[in-house]
Amino acid sequence: MISITSIQDLRRQIAQERLKSHSIGFVPTMGALHKGHISLIKEAKKHNQTCIASIFVNPLQFNNVEDFNKYPIQNEKDIQLLKDAGCDYLFLPSVAEFYPATPKLSIHIGPLDRILEGAHRPGHFSGVAIVVSKLFHMVMPDKAYFGQKDLQQVAVINQLVNELDFPIEIITCPIIREESGLAMSSRNMRLSAAGKTVAANIFLCLEFLEKALKNGIGTPVQPIQKMGMDFLNQFEGIRVEYLEIVQADTLQTITHLEPGSNVAVCVAAYVEEVRLIDNLVIIL
Ligand code: PAF
Repeated sequence: MISITSIQDLRRQIAQERLKSHSIGFVPTMGALHKGHISLIKEAKKHNQTCIASIFVNPLQFNNVEDFNKYPIQNEKDIQLLKDAGCDYLFLPSVAEFYPATPKLSIHIGPLDRILEGAHRPGHFSGVAIVVSKLFHMVMPDKAYFGQKDLQQVAVINQLVNELDFPIEIITCPIIREESGLAMSSRNMRLSAAGKTVAANIFLCLEFLEKALKNGIGTPVQPIQKMGMDFLNQFEGIRVEYLEIVQADTLQTITHLEPGSNVAVCVAAYVEEVRLIDNLVIIL
């Protein structure tokens, strides 16, 4: 694997790949890699001749300075994991290289920014849209791979690609979970073993709601949403920020469970002061 830190070198290497008519699969990450990221690399590798990953902890997308400062960094370990997964190139720029000046631009996302993560993390999706746009301009991949764990991020990136005509196919890959059901996340590294055990109840709640939703087709959503909140609130170590049952594609609120519709249960909750998100998409 070739590691690259400058934008100029990245462009030069990509031009070489294009001369060979190689298709490029791209996996943008913020590092602290886990099996979820590796599944994206494997998918990119399987469907493209060249696989490029990036590691860049993007300051623009952190609405909370403490969260940014505590974000785990383990570049040496990540490099080994990427090599083992067969990644061809790693782009690992510094903040000064990526943002020679702090961007004055902000991206107005619209309705998606007023719900769920958007409502609770002001400016987050503008920061994601800016970093992803810049990375897409630099890498110019054929396909880019994202995890379904960040369901709303995927919706924002699909909107970005559609509305700004990036000629890139966005591939969403399934959530990879621990044996306990806990969704893999770089933030899990900040949890103790006991914290991880408590956090696994988030997935149990999603499974509980899946059954309740399937039994409740044709009924209002609100009582089932409350059942989910009550389920999580019974655990002292979990502080729920939101639990919402929404339309799976638009992530907008629904009032009734229509037969044949796709719904998503989206949760954000704190365990040991670590903010975790998870979701489950269910076909009714
Ligand atoms: O999902 C992430 O790790 C980040 O939000 C991304 C897409 C790499 C942008 O910084």
